Amino acid sequence: MKYSLLFFALLGLSVGLGAADDKSKGIQMPETFISGDPDKGSALVESCVACHGVDGNSISTDWPKLAGQNQKYLLEELKHFRDGERNNVLMMAVIPYLQTLSDQDLLDIAAFYSKYNTNVGQAKNDEELLALGTQLYRFGDIKKQIPACTSCHAVYGQGNRLAGYPVIAGQQIGYLTSTLKAYRSKERNAGESSLVMQAIAENLSDYEIDALANYMHGLYE
Ligand code: HEC
Ligand code: HEC
Repeated sequence: MKYSLLFFALLGLSVGLGAADDKSKGIQMPETFISGDPDKGSALVESCVACHGVDGNSISTDWPKLAGQNQKYLLEELKHFRDGERNNVLMMAVIPYLQTLSDQDLLDIAAFYSKYNTNVGQAKNDEELLALGTQLYRFGDIKKQIPACTSCHAVYGQGNRLAGYPVIAGQQIGYLTSTLKAYRSKERNAGESSLVMQAIAENLSDYEIDALANYMHGLYE
């Protein structure tokens, strides 16, 4: 009972957002989010290059790409790491450094990565895996109370810049898999938005996570 209520709440949220998107078609959305300064940001990311690449396109499947990610989401996550709410062994190394930075500095870093383009990924050509990934991403699975990912992350995985819903198109497979599992185990637990993804990931099997990660990695317009 508790779960179905949550499911319908999520569904309602996504439908509501979808409707808002439709209404705004063709109309210039007001810029309600203040942008950082990418030039200032570029001077602050020296210690990030080894893992996230010079332009935010990481080279390991296990390290997230930051290139092209929306500023609002990046800012939130940077604050979570700095303030000790999101934990990861590799990011641990830069926490003392992040703690020396102001919110404005973090916004400038976000602006820096946001201006680059994500390198397009290539999905594994496994028919069964692709069919399941496509089906789940676009339509969800009502019996398993999994909402369609498109309602928040958009059809081509571009997320929602103003709402701060992350871009997932072209993201690294290893990272997508591990982070969905971390939501499922509730290990990824920083901020209220993470509760939304925890409730969704709770219902995903390992195979469904593999299928979704493969689909999102290869997703592009
Ligand atoms: C030793 C490798 C390493 C270094 C150096 C590093 N990161 Fe990361 N970063 C990671 C990994 C791995 C993750 C994924 C963490 C997780 O799974 O929770 C991550 C996650 C992130 C995220 C969240 C991405 C998302 O999609 O949610 C941001 C933002 C980020 N790093 C920014 C930075 C910045 C800024 C620096 C430099 C100050 C930096 N990182 C340095 C490895 C690194
Ligand atoms: C109701 C809106 C909503 C729906 C539906 C939704 N997401 Fe999310 N998703 C979010 C938000 C918000 C976040 C950021 C959560 C946080 O702050 O940890 C997120 C984060 C993620 C991330 C982490 C991105 C990163 O860079 O770390 C992945 C992966 C993801 N979602 C995949 C999915 C998949 C797969 C589905 C469909 C099964 C889905 N989402 C459905 C809102 C949604």
